[in-house]
Amino acid sequence: MEKIGVLVVAYGARETAMVDAFTRSKNYKVQLFIADKQRNPFNVEKAAKHVVIPDLDVEKICKFAEENKANLDFAIVGPEKPIIEGARDLIEKRTGIPVICPKKQYAIEASKVEQRLLFQEIAPEANPRFKVFDPKNYKGTDAVKQAVYKWLDELQNQAVVKPDKPTAGKGVGVWGDHFTTKEQLFEHFMSNFQYGTVIIEEKIDGEESSFMAFCDGKHFAPLPATRDHKRAFDDDKGPNTGGMGSYKDASDYLPFMTKKDRENELAIAQKIFEKWSAKIQDPTALRGVPLYLAFMHTRGGPKILENNSRPGDPEIINILPVLKDDFVDVCYKMIEGKLTSVEVEKAATVLTYKVPPSYGGYADVFPNKVNKLEVDTPVDLSAAYALTRKFGDRIRVYPGSMELKNNQTCALKSRVVGVLGVGESIEEARQVSLEGINAIKGAALWSRTDIAAKQHIQKCVEHMKQLRA
Ligand code: AMP
Ligand code: GLY
Repeated sequence: MEKIGVLVVAYGARETAMVDAFTRSKNYKVQLFIADKQRNPFNVEKAAKHVVIPDLDVEKICKFAEENKANLDFAIVGPEKPIIEGARDLIEKRTGIPVICPKKQYAIEASKVEQRLLFQEIAPEANPRFKVFDPKNYKGTDAVKQAVYKWLDELQNQAVVKPDKPTAGKGVGVWGDHFTTKEQLFEHFMSNFQYGTVIIEEKIDGEESSFMAFCDGKHFAPLPATRDHKRAFDDDKGPNTGGMGSYKDASDYLPFMTKKDRENELAIAQKIFEKWSAKIQDPTALRGVPLYLAFMHTRGGPKILENNSRPGDPEIINILPVLKDDFVDVCYKMIEGKLTSVEVEKAATVLTYKVPPSYGGYADVFPNKVNKLEVDTPVDLSAAYALTRKFGDRIRVYPGSMELKNNQTCALKSRVVGVLGVGESIEEARQVSLEGINAIKGAALWSRTDIAAKQHIQKCVEHMKQLRA
């Protein structure tokens, strides 16, 4: 078997799943060099060399690449921060090692305005109505307030406020969920506007799906649709999170979508890719997952909520364990410009995350349900891992925000551990995932109980029926 070296830039369970996919390669013996946000127990065990870079600073990542250059065949970057900050440009320039992720200039996740303008040009039918508010264009609060209120009148208040840059101010706010008066909306708007440009766009009604494609820059290989559960609490209540869990059906679309919805998604994504890549001179610039589109399926077809320039966390965990192709081969094809398609098993998968008491504000909203102090305490994954004896490859336990300390695996502050179940149906996959989740002992972690649940899916199906009627 050919021996190769791969650098993985890691943040959480999404990258643990990548590491797992490399480790399970049937065609290559992969030596892993992992630049990690923390001492992730899974990654520490699998890596030939493991380095902790808490801020995932690109200079430090690049230094690690330079030190191990002689042993590296390629690198792959999962998290958004180093992608946006130009990890690929720097590593390729200094080491010549090919890096899988888009180049800095094309990591449009960095700007919601840039995304909206690009989609407006290429696929206006999928863009909600929007207006950009740039602080440079307004003299004083009154002037911007007047402009905002005028736009809200046009939208009949059905509006969503989005900072241009990720994680500025209070972030995305949705009418009806985060504010119910113009004054409250404006307060949310100002909390972001003080840091820079803000978009106010039309609020659209529908059901969400995540669309991702692996890409070599020239070709575009779509992956099956997945559904993320973004809100913190059951029944889609509470604040938005990174995603509490996700599912994929055995087919390449979701139970609340029609075949036509999937075709529409594909057509929009394909059109964006073709017209966008045609404008870019460097045929490798869009390598990686340049289009991870959050679609909202509406009465009038799919609309784009946003685009990310990386694989989704957790959504890519629904895909990697059921790839029919060897993940290393997929990576080489991305580098060589030969990736025309990706084969995925016809299996359903469900990923559920367990998170600490503070995540999503759970401990504040449900003070009686968890012990607030139990963060940073040991988590025992052994019983969950032991379920492979029962389920074989149909269960995967992926530590995310966890740290190996004094030989114990401890929970940190973000999404601690994800358990993926694989099955013939979503319900079968969900039961495997839940059994794994319930086997995790230790710190007072919690999870949503309705990830991929029948009632949740049925509600989405009914919602779409009502919209289409
Ligand atoms: P984003 O960070 O843009 O994906 O937004 C976070 C969440 O806000 C999405 O998952 C949606 O639930 C919601 N959202 C964003 N944009 C809109 C929109 N135009 N209409 C309705 N909901 C939206
Ligand atoms: N699951 C949401 C994200 O990866 O941004």
